[in-house]
Amino acid sequence: MCGIIGYTGEESALPLLLGGLERLEYRGYDSAGVALIEGKKLIVEKRVGKIRELVRSLWGKPYSGKTGIGHTRWATHGAPSLKNAHPHTDSRNEFAVVHNGIIENFLEIREELKREGIRFRSETDTEVIAHLIARSYRGDLLSAVLETVERLKGAFAFAVITVHEPGRIVGVKQGSPLVVGIGEGENFLASDIPAILPYTRKVITLSDGEVVDITPEGVNIYDFYGNPITKEIMIVPWDIVSAERGGFKHFMLKEIHEQPKAVGDTVRGLISSGEILPFSLKDFRRVILIACGTSYHACLVGKFWMEKLVGVPVEVVYASEFRYADIPVSDKDLVIGVSQSGETIDTKFAMNMAKEKGATTVALVNVVGSSIDREADHSVYTHAGPEIGVAATKTFTAQLAALYYLSLRENPDRETLIGDLMQVPSLIETVLEKAEEVERIAEKFLKKKNFLYLGRYLNYPIALEGALKLKEISYIHAEGYPAGEMKHGPIALIDENMPVVVIAPQDRVYEKTLSNIEEVRTRKGTVVSVGFEGDERLRKLSSDLMEIPHVPEDITPFLTVVPLQLLAYFIASKLGLDVDQPRNLAKTVTVE
Ligand code: AGP
Repeated sequence: MCGIIGYTGEESALPLLLGGLERLEYRGYDSAGVALIEGKKLIVEKRVGKIRELVRSLWGKPYSGKTGIGHTRWATHGAPSLKNAHPHTDSRNEFAVVHNGIIENFLEIREELKREGIRFRSETDTEVIAHLIARSYRGDLLSAVLETVERLKGAFAFAVITVHEPGRIVGVKQGSPLVVGIGEGENFLASDIPAILPYTRKVITLSDGEVVDITPEGVNIYDFYGNPITKEIMIVPWDIVSAERGGFKHFMLKEIHEQPKAVGDTVRGLISSGEILPFSLKDFRRVILIACGTSYHACLVGKFWMEKLVGVPVEVVYASEFRYADIPVSDKDLVIGVSQSGETIDTKFAMNMAKEKGATTVALVNVVGSSIDREADHSVYTHAGPEIGVAATKTFTAQLAALYYLSLRENPDRETLIGDLMQVPSLIETVLEKAEEVERIAEKFLKKKNFLYLGRYLNYPIALEGALKLKEISYIHAEGYPAGEMKHGPIALIDENMPVVVIAPQDRVYEKTLSNIEEVRTRKGTVVSVGFEGDERLRKLSSDLMEIPHVPEDITPFLTVVPLQLLAYFIASKLGLDVDQPRNLAKTVTVE
């Protein structure tokens, strides 16, 4: 998954492109590059590594071109290297392309072009786009692009400029995200909104099958057949401050502390939107929740709530598994795709597959206008605002809020349950006030090489989520496991070197979980627990207790996850790791 940006207007394009790329860096950072129209020449500058390598190398260069495109890469085809870095150009260096996605039929196109004498400079799929456009060009960039997209298969968002038409950028959206920023005498193109927020809040979100033709004077949108399309301009409510770090050391820490607001805004958004779905969950024989990563863990919690509060059977399936299993899906099923980005390709394809099988589909997303949002039959939105840290935090608790609301909306105790939900933001605040205690615990364990996270019932998905948070930002191996399953194998791992984190609020499985803690202790395991304030029984069994307020059982997941987010954050931060952009990861996984 990569980030692309484009600018054409009256200003020098380079600083705007670099600023935008810095805000896109969480989408991938193996290499970065820009292409500029400098007079009659096409200038391409690219570097391996993070954006700052590119910025440093361009410092003081006399580029003043007013049209350009930029790219930050997360390698899919071809290793991270200079030759594979974008932008890619045609053989005569007259066209430059930046691309996010995968051209699935690029090999056949590559062979065809090679037979015509084209010599490729990279291993990427993207390079074929530049050569196809150059081959089709007969004086009009838009026509050449329309001819080119007829040949492409897969998921792609790309932008192209040419020396023949300074001031013009053409962009294409199919499967990967692309938005247009509308300025005064200038216009922008980007993979997502934070990249262009400092310059404009007027945004058009492109849909699959659309092409945008941009000049400083205007923006025109067409379908792949060249038919003009009218699109609505959205005024983005976010301001750039909310997308910046706001005084925190990392975006992730800021976003952990934004959770009261993310949950509160989500609940208010759901309540104020009236009837969020035109049907009852009970109208279906089954609900299937589909997601990846942290969103999958939110679904595991949602399953317990839906089955308890609605009484409908719920299945939770990894999107990447759903697509290849023979799960019998029909019009009797409701399929809910949960995705903060709304662009995760596995979730997107799984949802489309469910729809083709006749299911009613609902997108539960944080980004309005995202692919999964637009392609589902119905949508429910979280209102967490932009999440920049690769590790999902506030979007997770916002997803919990939406899933809980979906579960309670038809329950006879709806008003009481909404009352409980409305308390969650202040309860999270209470947990956040104990962050220093968690930081102290992190200090004790940051040298450990393996962690086990245990929980039963509602606490099991939180154990999975706590383990994922730790491993994805600290690179320490951590495994989440059902506490009741430990005696079926993992207990063999327990020794004094393996900290065991146990989530044990006083709920229906509390006593059984205490027994599991005893099992760990008798094998010299060290227990770090998450439990209710003042729980002396738990404290006596634990080397450290991270406390949450006493709340009804169903509300515990909103709170038990917070100390685990903080624990992972402090360990990774104290290890001096790149918390917001962990190695090998990207914020949105738009590759399969
Ligand atoms: C979570 O911290 C990770 N960033 C990752 O597992 C993420 O949750 C997953 O890729 C799903 O993303 P989505 O919610 O945007 O679909």
